[in-house]
Amino acid sequence: MNSFGRIFRVGIFGESHGCCTGVCVDGCPPGIALSESDFEDDLRRRRSGEKGTTPRREADLPRIVSGVFNGFTTGSPIVVEIANNDTAAKDYALFRDIPRPGHADFTAEKKYGGYADFRGSGHFSGRLTAGLVAAGVIAKKIIAPAAVESRILEIGGSADWKEIIERCLTERDSAGGIVECTISGAPAGWGEPFFDSVESVIAHIVYAVPAVKGIEFGAGFAAARMYGSEHNDAFEGQEGATVTNHAGGVNGGITNGNPIVFRVAVKPTSSIARPQTTANIRTGATVTLEIPGRHDACIALRIPPVLEAAAAIAIADLKMIYRAEPQKKI
Ligand SMILES: Cc1cc2nc3c(=O)[nH]c(=O)nc-3n(C[C@H](O)[C@H](O)[C@H](O)COP(=O)(O)O)c2cc1C
Repeated sequence: MNSFGRIFRVGIFGESHGCCTGVCVDGCPPGIALSESDFEDDLRRRRSGEKGTTPRREADLPRIVSGVFNGFTTGSPIVVEIANNDTAAKDYALFRDIPRPGHADFTAEKKYGGYADFRGSGHFSGRLTAGLVAAGVIAKKIIAPAAVESRILEIGGSADWKEIIERCLTERDSAGGIVECTISGAPAGWGEPFFDSVESVIAHIVYAVPAVKGIEFGAGFAAARMYGSEHNDAFEGQEGATVTNHAGGVNGGITNGNPIVFRVAVKPTSSIARPQTTANIRTGATVTLEIPGRHDACIALRIPPVLEAAAAIAIADLKMIYRAEPQKKI
């Protein structure tokens, strides 16, 4: 569905070419300083502009509609709207009959019986992540002094991706990438096994981010090729610090006090301008499609602040659940 979280609850709304997109955050404690300018940095980092990102330019000016009074959160739901101004709806009607390979046109048509807003990919657009980033700004305040950071490790299989982006642009293709996210400063003890382990909750929200196709924590898949003697993180001292961090900061689904580290695989953008084979779903005819419109040649370039937001939201919820646990009050 469109909401996430148990205590710190985030509901996302909007369509790519509707009036706005945004977020409703319920369960945020009162008394947190919050203003529209707090959203600027992360929304700017998510915005397009870099080579290889969409020519669509949105100002991304957030408007706090409720939940903040005299500069502080009130404890009631916080609604943040972000207007859509740079829209070009005419480019997308075609995909109702001739779905783009790799995109959500076909599945949305089947699920919503033709009622889905198809303009600019509607609710399936990366535009929806603007609201997620806004919620992340609030979540980052809740988890402080813990902090989240992410960085691109590689694009198209290379740590030096300038040339890959150039090639995508010349050859009308797209590239995927791997992005790493680190949450530092979270104490030991957060996470709710069995089903709400730290990995489960983070993976749940991270997989909601469009174009994310994989996630691994700590040594991740490489752990399968390691011996126990290599993989085990030796403890040093009394506070649970470990010499290595193959566990990625989580044991038994609970934070162990070391940095929580995960990496995400972002697929290459499905909307590419070079001819592709698809079908007209009304007639069944095979069709060659050249996708018009404005697209990111590499989504991974824009993902770091989105992942940070997703991680912060997951961790904020786990922190609040931890605080609310009955055993903590005895
Ligand atoms: C920040 C961001 C920007 C995106 N830009 C595009 C884009 O320009 N063109 C496109 O086809 N997909 C883009 N996507 C990905 C699609 O939204 C996504 O592939 C689609 O909804 C199908 O979902 P799936 O790939 O997770 O299956 C973007 C995703 C994000 C997070």
